[in-house]
Amino acid sequence: MGKRKTEFEFSAGLRWTHWIRAVSIFALTVSGFYLAYVFISPETSDEPVLFLNAKFRMWHEIIGFVLIAVTIFKSYLFLADRVSIKERVAFWDLVNPKIWYQQIMYYLFLGKHPELKGAYNPIQFLAYIGLYAMVFLICVTGVILYAHSYHEGLGGVLLGFVRPLEAWMGGLSMVREIHHIAMWAILIFVPVHIYMAIFNSIMGKEGSIDAIISGYRFNKTDKH
Ligand code: HEM
Repeated sequence: MGKRKTEFEFSAGLRWTHWIRAVSIFALTVSGFYLAYVFISPETSDEPVLFLNAKFRMWHEIIGFVLIAVTIFKSYLFLADRVSIKERVAFWDLVNPKIWYQQIMYYLFLGKHPELKGAYNPIQFLAYIGLYAMVFLICVTGVILYAHSYHEGLGGVLLGFVRPLEAWMGGLSMVREIHHIAMWAILIFVPVHIYMAIFNSIMGKEGSIDAIISGYRFNKTDKH
């Protein structure tokens, strides 16, 4: 083991938003699967009081709004937070063909890890841009579906605004279909993300998983 230098990489806001999103995506996937396939039925009763589907939908919507709020806050951090400058400068690695080449060679076990300017390698950064696009899509389609299930209060206010978008997407059933497909796109991202986090943590030996928990990474000081 070589020498290590601790480096503060991820702010508290970034780490909290990461884990709140992880938990809410899990809960939204479980409740979303129920809304799509209704995999449990309520106990039988002769009174119409169980409303299991409505309860699942209610929790799905509550957690959905948590995801929306956290995504907006995280986007603000990305653009404005002082510590998150490491995320922003990763853009310069994304547009650098040399870094792309070195990163691919590293993953093929044919070269060293490139010297990055920012917090993310270009493949990772591109995957995150794709994830944000899918989360944005699932949130927008989710809000359209929500506005159709609660016609008063916020739902009523939003309905007028989302109607043109709904028509543009091809109607309400298409909105639901797009919402469902976006879930699968996110579900492809998740295992790849976890695999890559473990891969980089083991191969790099710089505590890349530790960084999203404590905020600190342990950079090698003798790597060049
Ligand atoms: C990772 C995030 C999310 C996942 C995985 C997810 C998943 C799903 C799935 C699979 C369905 C069923 C679609 C079908 O019938 O095929 C659904 C429905 C729905 N989702 Fe989401 N969703 C997410 C985020 C959201 C958000 C942010 C909102 C906004 C509040 C939302 C609101 C709704 C509503 C209102 C429905 C329709 C319920 C119904 O028709 O009874 N979802 N969701």
